[in-house]
Order: sequence, then structure tokens, then C-alpha cells
Amino acid sequence: MAVILDGRVYADMALDAVAEKVAALKKRGITPGLAVILVGDDPASQTYVRSKGKACDRVGIYSRTMIMAGDTTQAELEKQIAQLNRDEKIHGILLQLPLPPHLDEQHALSCISPEKDVDGFHALNAGRLMLSLEGVQPCTPKGILFMLKQAGVPIEGAHAVVVGRSNIVGKPAAMLLLRENATVTLCHSKTPDLKAQTLQADILVAAVGKPRLITADMVKPGAAVIDVGINRVNGRLVGDVDFENVSGVAGYISPVPGGVGLMTVAMLMDNVVSLAETSLA
Ligand code: GUN
Repeated sequence: MAVILDGRVYADMALDAVAEKVAALKKRGITPGLAVILVGDDPASQTYVRSKGKACDRVGIYSRTMIMAGDTTQAELEKQIAQLNRDEKIHGILLQLPLPPHLDEQHALSCISPEKDVDGFHALNAGRLMLSLEGVQPCTPKGILFMLKQAGVPIEGAHAVVVGRSNIVGKPAAMLLLRENATVTLCHSKTPDLKAQTLQADILVAAVGKPRLITADMVKPGAAVIDVGINRVNGRLVGDVDFENVSGVAGYISPVPGGVGLMTVAMLMDNVVSLAETSLA
């Protein structure tokens, strides 16, 4: 049976460290602040946004949630972002994705000041990641690396296979694993024989959004399997990994719920603090 990578344990660890950093900043007269912009009323996004607010309360970060109507125009959204760019109480700005289809996501993200880009989605920060320069790292990939390191999973020299090439998870996860000296394969929907690739993985990251895509026959015995999928099936949350069967083959496995999702929020808190610290420098 695989070791369960319990997101609560690792997220608590990370959040306790963040709370200490927040306390230190407050002693210097700075309260780190996060603004979250939610456009529309997607229920899943509402849930994520609430959990971000709760995490802020827990660690002592000031938070503000801006809820904008589903028919908000690009200009209205970008005006809101510009206001937050100027707001001295706010160190991090998070634009909850996905946006309603009439809005240009990439353009809106490019309006967030790179110094307040808490997700690391601005082209400048994505470029910094690509070049292995200092900068904010996207929260979910950063959380994956945190979990793997805390669990003692060797990354250097490992073969990491990432399934899914999104800008939010797949691509940045591949870059971070590469930076830690893994050999990285990045797979996607046009990869011809996915199983042949995943069977090579010492570290397997599934970030596609297809329920139970990764089955036990696709996993190398002893591998560390990280499930980033959040899919609703008959009202139940399931990941991209067939947890019941894969946990009999893998060496480590992260559950859904209770795995990577909690890490994402914890790393978001860490990023807010980093941006607040950088703003002092
Ligand atoms: N939607 C799903 N994941 C994320 C994330 O990490 N950041 C933002 N802004 N939106 C998301």
C-alpha cells in the first residue's frame, strides 16, 4: 500500500511557517494583503475563493474578495485590477480562473503588476520561471514540490512524467521539476501511447481533469503519484487517478480531496508573504 501524501499535514506545516512570517512582518508595521477577484458565479470557483479567504484569516493575512458580475466587460475588469495595483494595502492580486468566455484571460493577467502577481501567471514571472530566475512560482506546482520534498521523495535524477500542459499546472510543474534536476517528460492529449510514458515515471503528476484517467496498469511500482485533478462525478469529488487501485501499486499517492488542493492554498499564502517582503526591499 502506498504512503498517503496527506495535504492537511503538509499544508498545516506550511501555514504554520507562513503565520510566523506574517507575525514578523506585522512587527515591522506591515500586514500582508491579498485581493481575490472573482468574475461570475461559478460554484466551484466560489468554493475555492472562500477557502482562500479562510486561509488568510488563519495566518493573519488581510484579504479582500472582489466579486464582479458575470457580464463584466474587459475594460471594467482591467480597471479593477489597475485600482488594486495602486492599493498599498494589497501585496498580492489573484484573478480566479477560468474567466467567463467573453473575457481575454491572458490580457487581464498581463494587467496585474508583476510585483503583485501572486499566482506567477504574468508573462514576466512565467519567463523568470523558465529562466530559473528568482520570482513567484505558481501555487499548485510549488505545493507539489513542497509535498514531495517533505515526504522525502527523491527528485534529482528521478524521471518525472507530467500529464497535462496547462499554464497553471502542467507547464510550470515541469519547469520546477526540471529545476530540481528531474528528467521531465511532459505529456498531453496528443501523446500517442500515454501508458508507455507513465510507466517510466518515478514521479507521476496527473493534471488533466479527466476522472480516473490514470489506472493501476499505467503506474510503475513504487512511483510517487500526485493527483491534481478535481472532477465532480455524481456529486462526488474525484481526481485524475483511480485512487483505490493505484494506491496498491504506487509508493506514494496524494488523495482527492485532501491532497494537492490544500497545498495550493497554503502556497498562495506563502506567495502573499513573499510579495509583501519583497515590497519592503
Ligand atoms: N483556477 C484554478 N486554479 C487556479 C489557480 O491556481 N489560480 C487561479 N487564479 N485560478 C485558478
